[in-house]
Amino acid sequence: MSTIGATRVREFPDTTWADDGPTRGVEAVVEAGEVLRFPYLPFALIESELRFRDPRWADGKAKNISLRWGGNQPDGNRPDGEMRGAAGTPAELAGLKAMITRYADQAEAFALRLFPHYRGHLRRGNTSFRPVDVAGRETSWRQDDTRLHVDAFPSNPMHGTRLLRVFCNVNPSGRAREWRVGEPFEAHAKRYLPMIQRPWPGSAWLLEKTGITKRRRTEYDHVMLQLHDRAKADADFQRNSPQARAAFAPGTTWVVFSDQVLHAAMGGQHMLEQTFYLDVADQQEPTTSPRSTLERLLGRELR
Ligand code: SIN
Ligand code: FE
Repeated sequence: MSTIGATRVREFPDTTWADDGPTRGVEAVVEAGEVLRFPYLPFALIESELRFRDPRWADGKAKNISLRWGGNQPDGNRPDGEMRGAAGTPAELAGLKAMITRYADQAEAFALRLFPHYRGHLRRGNTSFRPVDVAGRETSWRQDDTRLHVDAFPSNPMHGTRLLRVFCNVNPSGRAREWRVGEPFEAHAKRYLPMIQRPWPGSAWLLEKTGITKRRRTEYDHVMLQLHDRAKADADFQRNSPQARAAFAPGTTWVVFSDQVLHAAMGGQHMLEQTFYLDVADQQEPTTSPRSTLERLLGRELR
C-alpha cells in the first residue's frame, strides 16, 4: 500500500468542545482536504447513557440511528430533530435522543470555534449514532463504505453544497475507528474524469419526476456520483491507489469535508457523527471546492 500522495491527517491538542478553547481559524486546512484529528477530545456520556453503546438500540433496518434536522433540504432547519432507526420504549428513546442532541450541539459549537468564517452559514444536517460494528454491516458494493469513496448520494443531489462532518469515537473497549484515507481530490478527479460521460438529455428531469432524486440531479451531482461509484467498483484502485491508514482511538474527534476526502471505514463500533452543509460561496477559499476543481479540470461550468 502506497502512502505517498495520500491525504494528510493533521493533529490538534484541543481538549474542549467550545467553552474555553481558542478560536482556531483552520478553514484553510480543512478546505485543503486534510483530516483534522483531535485525539484528546472525547464526547462524555453520562451514567444513564452508557447502555446505549449496544447495537440493540438500532432497529435493524438502517445502518445508523439518526436525528434529522431538516438540513437535508440544503435550505432550512427544523428546530427539533426527528429520530429515526432506533428501537426502545418512549423513555429510552427520549434518553437516546437527548444524548444525540447534545452531541449535535457540541459538534456545532466546536465547528464554529474551528471555522469562524463559517459563522452564520453552516447549516445543521443529520446527526448519527452508529452502534453497529462496521465489520457486520451487510451491504451492496455501492453502499459498502469499506471501499474508498467521496460522499455522494443517488437520491440526494447536493448541487455543490459542501458536506462537513464531525466524527467522535465513543467505543468503551479501546477499539479504534479504523479508516483508510486516499488520494487528494484533484488527483482522484483526474483519474476518472476522462471516462465519465455527460448525463443523458432528459435523465435529470426523469429522475426527479419519478421521485428517484429529491431534487434535480445536476451535472455536478452526476459527476460526483460517478466518482463515488467508479471508485467503489474499481478493485485495482481500492488496492493499489495512494492511501494511508488512520486509526481514531476512543476519545478522538475528527473533522473532514467528506465530499472531498477519499475515505473508507474498515472497522470499529460506536461512533457519533454530525453533518453540516456549507455553500461553496461561504468557504474561505471557494476555488478549493470539488465543484470548482471539477469545473477547472473540465474547462466549463457544471450545471
Ligand atoms: C463513511 O462516511 O463512509 C463511513 C464513516 C464511518 O462509519 O466511520
Ligand atoms: Fe462516506
